[in-house]
Amino acid sequence: MDSIIVTGNGPLSGTIPIAGAKNACLTLMPATLLSDDPLTLTNAPRLSDIRTMAELLGSLGAEVSTLQGGQVIAMSSHALASQRADYDIVRKMRASILVLGPLLARFGHAEVSLPGGCAIGARPVDLHLKALEAMGARLDLREGYVHASAPGGLKGGTFEFPIVSVGATENALMAATLAKGTTVLKGAAREPEIVDLATCLRRMGAQIDGDGTDTITIQGVDRLHGATHPVVTDRIELGTYMLAPAICGGEVTCLGGRISLLASFCEKLDAAGLSVTETAEGLTVARRNGAIRAVDVTTAPFPGFPTDLQAQFMALMCTAGGTSKLEETIFENRFMHAPELIRMGADIDVHGGVATVRGVAGLKGAPVMATDLRASVSLILAGLAAEGETIVNRVYHLDRGYEHVEEKLRAVGALIERIPGR
Ligand code: EPZ
Repeated sequence: MDSIIVTGNGPLSGTIPIAGAKNACLTLMPATLLSDDPLTLTNAPRLSDIRTMAELLGSLGAEVSTLQGGQVIAMSSHALASQRADYDIVRKMRASILVLGPLLARFGHAEVSLPGGCAIGARPVDLHLKALEAMGARLDLREGYVHASAPGGLKGGTFEFPIVSVGATENALMAATLAKGTTVLKGAAREPEIVDLATCLRRMGAQIDGDGTDTITIQGVDRLHGATHPVVTDRIELGTYMLAPAICGGEVTCLGGRISLLASFCEKLDAAGLSVTETAEGLTVARRNGAIRAVDVTTAPFPGFPTDLQAQFMALMCTAGGTSKLEETIFENRFMHAPELIRMGADIDVHGGVATVRGVAGLKGAPVMATDLRASVSLILAGLAAEGETIVNRVYHLDRGYEHVEEKLRAVGALIERIPGR
């Protein structure tokens, strides 16, 4: 397993290109199953999760080819051989459940392995299933698989989500495009990735209104045609790299960044003492007067503070002036980066869903362990500002969501290198 060594090296300066959104691409790719015409995605990120989704679609018989080093993904599912997504692929990546809605909508049946939990929580899929049942799907859980059928096809229905679920909204949205009649999704997720999916589906001929609000209305159509769609900018990669100059000092411009993707996060950066300037190039971040102030954060569904940036923001708060409280409301176990940051000298107490971070003068490099995707990049950020060397182990977590992280940070002056695993 590879490791990454980071050595604190003072202020950063320069530009960092931001890739297409992993969490948009992982729902855009299964959309190819809705049509027998080709679907091509551009601005796709080059990540292991994307390769896993390509492997899953390939196992169903879809044709998936990548061009331009992975930035273009050309797909076709005109000759699909199977509607069964096997456990050995699904267990590698929870987003595999997103093939369920499209398979059911297009073919009237599907067998998809239950994804199981992961490090940050149990992450059930009950809302995915309930939303599909509201469209007439019959679902049977046997031997760890969801056996779904919709004889005569899905029918439009109304479903109100009791809690906001990004994935369940995406599965239901995709399925509803081919259901007979009108589907109304209430309490829907509002993330930019949902809007990006709806935009792609409209390009394929779907009739969708209200995406980006909590009520999405879909008028089913008989078939969808092919399309070419650019993946939206990754707001989580964007927010992650905006924190690099925040933690180290200096000035960095994140190319392609827009405040609209991260308004609540930018408000917290402002409160912490950062200036965020939007230009045609992207978002430029720098400390206003050198000091970082402690700021309280509560994660929430979009447009609230993203749970996927909580770990990274905690790294910033470790050396802020004062005490901050970070409340995690989306997942039940998303503070695994805290013990690793404490190894670097941070002063953090975790009780239930709240982490109290008392700022210290500085962090010290140490060997640390990555536990999940966002926790691992939080440790990289902390290492950028720490005195001495930080070795982050198990960086395969990192490679799921951040392409070429060491190149991007080295380009703005970080001392960072990857040590290939033995
Ligand atoms: C998506 O996961 C993202 N992943 C996550 O990003 C992100 O943290 C999450 O949305 C929240 O924004 C992808 O898009 C591939 P949810 P998802 O359904 O869809 C509960 C990353 O780091 N829930 O919005 O799985 C669930 O347990 C990843 O890139 C149910 O109870 O998240 C959680 O507590 C991590 N039943 C809450 O809802 C369900 O059927 C929100 O989950 C579904 C979810």
